[in-house]
Amino acid sequence: MTITSNPAEDRAADSGILPFPMDRATGCPFDPPPRLQAQQQEKPLVRVRLWDGSTPWLVTRHADQRALLGDPRVSADITRPGYPRSAPSNGRNNISFILMDDPEHARLRRMVTGSFAVKRVQAMRPAVQRIVDDQIDDMLAGPNPVDLVQAFALPVPSLVICELLGVPYDDHDFFQRNSSALVKQSLSVEERTAAHGALLGYLDDLMGEKLARPADDLLSSLATRVKDGELSREEAAQMGVLLLLAGHETTANMIALGTVALLEHPDQLALLRDADDPKVIAAAVEELLRYLNVTHSGRRRVALEDIEIAGEVIRAGEGIVLPNEIANRDPEVFTDPDHLDLERDARRHVAFGFGVHQCLGQPLARLELQVVYSTLYRRVPTLRLATDVEKLPYKHDGAVYGVYELPVAW
Ligand code: HEM
Repeated sequence: MTITSNPAEDRAADSGILPFPMDRATGCPFDPPPRLQAQQQEKPLVRVRLWDGSTPWLVTRHADQRALLGDPRVSADITRPGYPRSAPSNGRNNISFILMDDPEHARLRRMVTGSFAVKRVQAMRPAVQRIVDDQIDDMLAGPNPVDLVQAFALPVPSLVICELLGVPYDDHDFFQRNSSALVKQSLSVEERTAAHGALLGYLDDLMGEKLARPADDLLSSLATRVKDGELSREEAAQMGVLLLLAGHETTANMIALGTVALLEHPDQLALLRDADDPKVIAAAVEELLRYLNVTHSGRRRVALEDIEIAGEVIRAGEGIVLPNEIANRDPEVFTDPDHLDLERDARRHVAFGFGVHQCLGQPLARLELQVVYSTLYRRVPTLRLATDVEKLPYKHDGAVYGVYELPVAW
C-alpha cells in the first residue's frame, strides 16, 4: 500500500481509482461519459482522482446529490483544505458568493435576489422578445451560412444581462473573451488569472461610474450599498464579475447546444416549433436543461463533518464532486433518461444545482430560453447545420459545456 500524508488517499491508492473528469469525447455529444453512467449503476459513491492527485468522492445518484447539496455539513468554500478544485488556481481568481458559505454567502446573495425574482424577470419578457427578434433580423440580413454562436447565441443573453446590470454592450468583445477564458480549464493559471483580473478591473471602473452617476440598474443599486457602507467596493466588483459571467456564458451555451440537439431530433424540434401553449414551451425548456447539462462536470464541495450516505462515510475535510449531468440521467427519477422527450415532466432536474447555491439567475435563464426556443425555429424554419454534427468543436475543456462554433444555414 502507498503511504502518503493523507490517509484518505492511502485508502484509495491501490484500488484502481478512476480519473475525473471522465472522457466524454468518444460518446454521444449530449450524453455524460459512458463510464460515469456505468458508475451510477455499479457504485454510486466512489473515490476519483483529480488533476492534482487528490481523491475526492464522486456522487452519481440524483437523491444523494440533492441530499448532500442541501446539507449544511457541506461547504462550497473553495479556500478550505480538501476542496476539490477543477483546475490549478493561485487563489486570486475566485468569484464572489458562489464559492462562499453562509452567513457571508447569504449576506451577499440577498443584495441581488430582488432583481432575479420571478415577477421582476417576467416583466422583462417584452424586452427579451425584442432582443431575440432584432438578433434574428440581423442574422437573416447577414451572411448565410453563419456561426450561430457569434450571430445569435452569445449576443442574446449578453444584451439581456448588460441591460439588467447596466454594463455597456459595446464592450461585449472584451467581456465575452475574458469570461470564456476564465472558464476554459485548459488555459494556464496565469491566463485565467489575467482574464479574471481584466474583468475585475473593468467592473471596478464601472462601479466608479455608477457611484458618480447612478442609473436605474443593478450595478447602481450595488453602488448605493457601497456608499451606505453595506458592501465594500471590491465585493461589489466581484459580484459584478459573477453576475456578468454567469448571466451570459451558461445561457449562450444552452442556446447553441440546444439548437444542435433539436436539429438532431427533428420530431422534437417540430413539437416545439408548433407549440402555442406557454406551458408546453416551458416544459420543453426544462427537458432541454435536464438533457444537456451545460454545467456538466459538477458541483464541488468539501465535508465539514463526517457524513454517512449510501453506505459510505464521507469524512470531515474530504472533497465531494457532484456532476449534475449524471444525476439528471438517473433512471430512478427519469424514465428512459437518455431519451430527449420534450413532453416529459423534467422539473426535478438539477441543472440549476440544489440547496442554498441553487442558481440565482434561473428565472431569467428560463425566460430567455423560452423566448429563444419558441421564436428562432419558427422564424427560421429551414435552419440546419452547415457541418456534420460530429465535426462540431465541443467544449470538452470547459467548465461550461457547449460548442465553440456552430455553423448553420437556412
Ligand atoms: C441555462 C443557464 C444557466 C444554468 C444551467 C445555470 C446553472 C447554475 C448552477 C448549476 C449553479 C449552482 C452552482 C453551485 O451549486 O455550485 C448556478 C449558480 C448561480 N447562477 Fe446560474 N445558471 C444559468 C444561468 C444563470 C443566469 C442567467 C444568471 C444571471 C446572473 C446566473 C447566476 C448565477 C449565480 C449568481 C449563481 C450563484 C448562486 C449562489 O451561489 O448562491 N445563472 N447556476
